[in-house]
Amino acid sequence: MSNQTVFSGIQPTGELHLGNYFGAVANWVRIQESGCYQAIYCVVDLHAMTMPYNPNELRKNTQQMFIDLLAAGLDPDKSIVFVQSMVPEHTELAWILGCVCAYGDLTRQTQFKDKSEQLEGKQDAFISAGLFTYPVLQAADILLYRAGWVPVGKDQEQHLELSRDIARRFNGQFGEYFPEPAVLSTETPKLLSLADPLKKMSKSLGPKHYIGLFEEEKSVRAKVRSAVTDTGEAGTEIGPGALNLLGLLRACGKADTAQAFEREYANGARRYAPLKEAVADALVELTGAMRQRREGIAGDRERVHKLMQEGAEKARAIARATMKEVRRLAGLPKHQE
Ligand code: TRP
Repeated sequence: MSNQTVFSGIQPTGELHLGNYFGAVANWVRIQESGCYQAIYCVVDLHAMTMPYNPNELRKNTQQMFIDLLAAGLDPDKSIVFVQSMVPEHTELAWILGCVCAYGDLTRQTQFKDKSEQLEGKQDAFISAGLFTYPVLQAADILLYRAGWVPVGKDQEQHLELSRDIARRFNGQFGEYFPEPAVLSTETPKLLSLADPLKKMSKSLGPKHYIGLFEEEKSVRAKVRSAVTDTGEAGTEIGPGALNLLGLLRACGKADTAQAFEREYANGARRYAPLKEAVADALVELTGAMRQRREGIAGDRERVHKLMQEGAEKARAIARATMKEVRRLAGLPKHQE
């Protein structure tokens, strides 16, 4: 039988935006709705501790991300949705896997290099060992559920490859147990910054650059209106900003409208005001519906709290069974739970 467990994680970076919604979460919802997988989705708060952070903000953002994921369409009756730190087996397995992960492999992870360089430039630069061993925790996340498929973007492929190396070394040393997880790749649009369409849409660039999934109509319209379209292209070439707006329209399910604009532009027309209006209308519709759903969920704190506990319990049931076997294989004594 082929392995049909899907696992993915998202950092609690505050509110979801269109970039991580269309690039990741909308895809998670599609996987859930396909009914072909046991899907497990996790808010990885332990991963967020690898960069400097404020404890109160982390707790707030973690709960916020959990709520946002439900508002965006993850359904706790169909998928397991939970918070990483509420399942302590993640850290237990991470230690064991750290002992079958080659130090040299960790030194070659480009994300560590990028992030540590970013930190080095700052005052009081502090680069934690946690940032260095981050990919081991990620491997533990996936292998704890013996997931075969991991929907992630290109930037995570190196981490996935390391997860496979870790699984292979564990199996070689202690006995065949973990499947080697593969990237579940699907076409997801890569959205660019509205103000600087040569960069990826991300919150770290600042509020002009992204649109929140729950943003109010007024600011959605203002941001789309001031979006950069051309960056000095010659002739009939469409600029990256305009292409990004067309991509947004398509992501919102308005492919026909996008195509009509494309035809117009291919004929040499360069009127971006109507395109912007169509994009703004589509986004206002989306964010309005999302905001309404989020208000419904966030208004019932008790239910949110209960769903968080239940999600963690479901995840733990699988995690405990895995750890029992891992402990046995790795030569650790049995322990009472
Ligand atoms: N490292 C991932 C990111 O930054 C998040 C993540 C943590 C993850 N654990 C995971 C993704 C396990 C997939 C599977 O996007």
